[in-house]
Amino acid sequence: MPVNDSILQEPEVFFPSEAMSAHATISGMGAYRALAAEAERDYEGFWARLARETLSWHKPFTQVLNEAKAPFYTWFEDGELNASYNCIDRHVEAGNGGRVAVIFEADDGTVTRVTYDDLLQRVCHFANALKKLDVKKGDRVVIYMPMSVEGVVAMQACARIGATHSVVFGGFSSKSLNERLVDVGATALVTCDEQMRGGKALPLKSIADEALAMGGCEAVKSVIVYRRTGGKVAWSEGRDLWMHEIVANEPDQCAPEWVGAEHPLFILYTSGSTGTPKGVQHCTGGYLLWAAQTMKWTFDWKPADVFWCTADIGWITGHSYIAYGPLALGATQVMFEGVPTYPDAGRFWDMIARHKVSLFYTAPTAIRSLIKLAETDMKVHPDSFDLSTLRVIGTVGEPINPAAWRWYYEHVGGSRCPVVDTWWQTETGGHMIAPMPGATPLVPGSCTLPLPGILAAVVDETGQDVPDGQGGILVVKRPWPSMLRTVWGDPQRFSKGYFPEELGGKLYLAGDGAVRDSETGYFTITGRIDDVLNVSGHRLGTMEIESALVANPLVAEAAVVGRTDETTGEVVVAFVVLKGARPEGEEAVKIANELRAWVGKEIGPIAKPKVIRFGENLPKTRSGKIMRRLLRSLAAGETITQDVSTLENPAILDQLG
Ligand code: WT7
Repeated sequence: MPVNDSILQEPEVFFPSEAMSAHATISGMGAYRALAAEAERDYEGFWARLARETLSWHKPFTQVLNEAKAPFYTWFEDGELNASYNCIDRHVEAGNGGRVAVIFEADDGTVTRVTYDDLLQRVCHFANALKKLDVKKGDRVVIYMPMSVEGVVAMQACARIGATHSVVFGGFSSKSLNERLVDVGATALVTCDEQMRGGKALPLKSIADEALAMGGCEAVKSVIVYRRTGGKVAWSEGRDLWMHEIVANEPDQCAPEWVGAEHPLFILYTSGSTGTPKGVQHCTGGYLLWAAQTMKWTFDWKPADVFWCTADIGWITGHSYIAYGPLALGATQVMFEGVPTYPDAGRFWDMIARHKVSLFYTAPTAIRSLIKLAETDMKVHPDSFDLSTLRVIGTVGEPINPAAWRWYYEHVGGSRCPVVDTWWQTETGGHMIAPMPGATPLVPGSCTLPLPGILAAVVDETGQDVPDGQGGILVVKRPWPSMLRTVWGDPQRFSKGYFPEELGGKLYLAGDGAVRDSETGYFTITGRIDDVLNVSGHRLGTMEIESALVANPLVAEAAVVGRTDETTGEVVVAFVVLKGARPEGEEAVKIANELRAWVGKEIGPIAKPKVIRFGENLPKTRSGKIMRRLLRSLAAGETITQDVSTLENPAILDQLG
C-alpha cells in the first residue's frame, strides 16, 4: 500500500468553502452530526425515513430491520418495489422524461445522448424480449458486456422483470466466465460481438463461446448478442440471438414486476482470501436506498449536475454509481467506453470539459498514471483544460497517497473542489466512510468519517475496541440496509467470513486494517488484513492466482504475494517451484512469460504476475506452512530481519531474494 505516514507528520487540513457548504445537502459538521445523532437515537426510524423519502414503494413497508435470523439481516421486508421503476418510470411520470440520463462517449469519441424516455423504451423492449425467452423472476442472467448503454439496459431490464443479474467484467477470461456461469446457474447470457477499447477490438463473443463450451452451464438456453463492431462471430443457431433483432417488435410498455425489498437484485463475484470467488448477493430495497442516498450525500448530487463515474459496470462501483444510484435520482451522467490514455492521456480532462462534468469519480491508480504522463507532456496536463465545471471529485478502490491526493485537488479540482476519498466494498453496496463535501474538513490520505447511520469501528482480534491512534481491524457494528445478504449458494461462507465467532459473531468484518485518529476520529485504511491483493483497485485473491499457476503442467508449487507499487498500489509477485529443474537466464524469462500468459487465460489479464521468481522450494516451517511474511519481504527487496529459525530450509531465501 502507498505509505500514508505524512498524515501523522504534517496534518494538513482542507476546509470546505463557504459556497460549497451553503448549498450542500449536508451543509456543515453540525448537519452531519445531527444526522449521525438521529441514527444513534432511533436507528430504525432513521433508515425508515430515508427509505420513504428516497425510494418509491409500490407497497409501503411496515417492518424496518429484522434481526431474528442474524447475521442474515433483512430490511423493509414486507415492502414492495421495483428497482427499474425507481430508476426510470418515476422520473418520466414526474415529467422529466426528456432529461438526458446517459451521455455515452464511445472509444472513438462518438457521443450518444439517451433520455429517460428513451431509456424506458429500451428497457421495456429488452425486458419483454427476455420474458419471451422464458426468463422469469428469480432466474439468473449473466451479463458479459463492455461499457455500453446496452449493458445498463440489460441490467435494468433484469431488474424490471425480477430476474437477478450477475455482471462479469469484460476483462475476465473464458474460464472465469465459465466458473461464474456455472456457480450462479445462469439461464441466459448477454454479451457483445466485440468490445472497443483504446482503438482495439476484443472478441467478447468468442470468449463467451469458449466459456460455454467448457461445460457445466448447459442451463444457458439463450445467448443474446449486442452488435457493437459488426466483427465476425461464430453462431450457434437456436441459442444465439441478436439483441437488435429480438427487441425490434417488442411493445414500448412492460409492467414492472413488484418484488419484495429483499428480492435479490444482483449477484456480483469478488475475490476472498480463500477458495473460488464468492457471489456477493445484494437485495433490491436496502441496496437501492443506499446507492441513491450516497449520491446525495457523498457527491452532494443536485439535478443540475453532470455526474461521471469512470468505473466499469463489471465492478460494484459501476453498479452503484452508474447503473443504479444516478438513475434512481434521475441524474444526468457520462458513461465512457474507452480508456483514459486513448487517443492520449488527456482524454478524461477533455471529456470533463466537453461534457461540463461537475461530479467526477475515479480510481487512485488512474490518477497516478495520469500524473506521470502529464508531467512530461503539457498537452495532456489537466491545467491545459477548462475544468471549471467541476464541483466535487472523488476516489475509490484503494488508498490514495497524499501526494496524488494533492495533485488531484490542485490540478483537477482547481483547489476548489472537495476530494471525497470513499472507502467501501463490493459487500457494502455503497459508501461507508467518506467525507461529506460541504461539511467534512479533508485530510489527504484519510477517508475521514463514517456516513450517518454507519457504525464503523476499529477492534482487536477478540472484537474489543482498540484505543484511537492504535491500528486494528475495521468492523461495522450494526447491520445497514445495503449490506450483502449472503454469499450465493454458500450461506456458511457468508456468516463465518463476515461475522466471525472470534469477534463475537455480531461485528461485520471488512477485511481491512484501519486506524482512527485520536483527535479527529478520522479513519485511515491501512490495507487488507487477509490474503487479498488490490491491483489498480481490482481485488484479487492470492489463492486464486496460486491455483491458476499450479494448474499449469510445468508448475509444482506456487505462492503469491503483493508488492507495493507507486502506480497500481500493489503488483502481483509469484514464487514458483517447477516440476523440473529451476530455470535460469533466458529459460527463466521464457517460462515466466508463458506462466504470465497462462494466468491471463485462467483468470484474466489483471491477475498476471508482474514478477515471477523461481526457486527449488518455498520457505516453509517444519510443519510445512509457507511463510508468506518472508515472501512479502523478499518481494519488497527488504533484508530479512525476521526470525528464520523455524524455517525448514533457510538457504532457499538466497535463491528467491
Ligand atoms: C477493498 C474493496 C469500493 C468499490 C471498489 C472496490 C479497498 C476501497 C478504498 C479507499 C482505501 C480502499 C479496501 C476494500 N478500498 N476503497 N477509499 N481507501 N482502501 O471494491 O473490489 O470490493 O474492494 O478495496 O481494501 O476492502 P472491492
